[in-house]
Amino acid sequence: MDYFLYQEGTLHAEQCSVVDLAHTYGTPLYIYSRATLERHWHAFDSAVANHPHLICYAVKANSNLAVLNVLARLGSGFDIVSGGELARVIEAGGDPSKVVFSGVGKTVAEMEMALGLGIYCFNVESAAELELLNEVALRLGKVAPVSLRVNPDVDAGTHPYISTGLKENKFGIAMEEAERIFIRAHQLPGLEVKGADCHIGSQLTEIQPFLDAMDRMLGLIDRLAEQGVNIAHLDVGGGLGVTYDDEQPPAPSDYAAALLDKLEGRDLKLIFEPGRAIAANAGIFVTQVLYLKENSDKNFALVDGAMNDLIRPSLYSAWQKIIPVVPRAGVERNYDVVGPVCETGDFLGKDRMLNLQAKDLLAVRSSGAYGFTMSSNYNSRPRAAEVMVDGDKHYVVRARETVSQLWQGEQLLP
Ligand code: LLP
Repeated sequence: MDYFLYQEGTLHAEQCSVVDLAHTYGTPLYIYSRATLERHWHAFDSAVANHPHLICYAVKANSNLAVLNVLARLGSGFDIVSGGELARVIEAGGDPSKVVFSGVGKTVAEMEMALGLGIYCFNVESAAELELLNEVALRLGKVAPVSLRVNPDVDAGTHPYISTGLKENKFGIAMEEAERIFIRAHQLPGLEVKGADCHIGSQLTEIQPFLDAMDRMLGLIDRLAEQGVNIAHLDVGGGLGVTYDDEQPPAPSDYAAALLDKLEGRDLKLIFEPGRAIAANAGIFVTQVLYLKENSDKNFALVDGAMNDLIRPSLYSAWQKIIPVVPRAGVERNYDVVGPVCETGDFLGKDRMLNLQAKDLLAVRSSGAYGFTMSSNYNSRPRAAEVMVDGDKHYVVRARETVSQLWQGEQLLP
């Protein structure tokens, strides 16, 4: 459920008219709904309310400071994958003691920063990283809390680019090696083994792969306990899917209930790292039609938003709903909604039935996750503005980039 609904024939973000927002802030424009973000976060938190847990929002999905701040105010933890994301969390008022640090390529500088801030846990992804983290921690006179990310080798049944739990993926430690590396971690003086984690992929629409992964993780945790390595938390990663079209992913409450069932009788804290399920449907991307180009074979709606603003359709052939901000009565035609970037792959949607005129506003739904964070300046296009609505109030949470910002830091030869 989200708060982007039509009121009197115009799409609204909570109580704000999207037409007014587009006129005030220009297009292309990202619009986020605070109430939706909060609702989605609470859906996770309340689903596990009776069990020790931590919701660590995956910052990569949407790292705008205002988004992080709204979640920090709820008491959220954060899942980060870089020093930059950690700095954002701190800047936004997040609590470092609720941060888990994922990622396959942590640098020494990032380890030092995270140790200095006292994060909750490092999700270590390889034996080599484990050794390095131990050295860094010892040098700083600290003990690094660690979890090992294990690759449970389950097929998440999602797009290959966002499926991460198979043996062939670069992520995590193979199940066969996991025990040995956990025991090694247990022995290293600069480390304290806290947890075990996995993340099998993103945009999962079934519960079963999560349960398969959980079974394997619990088996591992039991084998470790027999060898004197006690695991205090299980981090199940993120990955719960959302409705872009007609997918029917499990609700966080059903997903959590199924996981809790398996934990019956165990004293294991649960950590979740949801990104998309919190942010995707808390955002829309608004773009204006520049031109209509109607050929005999194909109709194009050329809009002012492009693949540099929202790359998911181009990169993953992802389908996101495109709706008119003010729907017109009358005959719809089949359009490809395309941007101004000089690439055939620059489209926001193909074969969409719409009734359009130049200057119409379109909203690409479900753009709150992996939208702005994956945007670029390709074709020297300044990045879009981001606005957050809160009831009938609206705030710029990132100003539209200016053209001179495009070459900030660049220099001519002497
Ligand atoms: N934890 C880890 C270790 C991850 O790698 C990810 C996402 C998450 C949590 C959050 O997953 P979520 O709950 O959002 O599914 N750019 C792609 C998605 C890439 C996901 C990468 N990892 C897209 O636009 O679909």
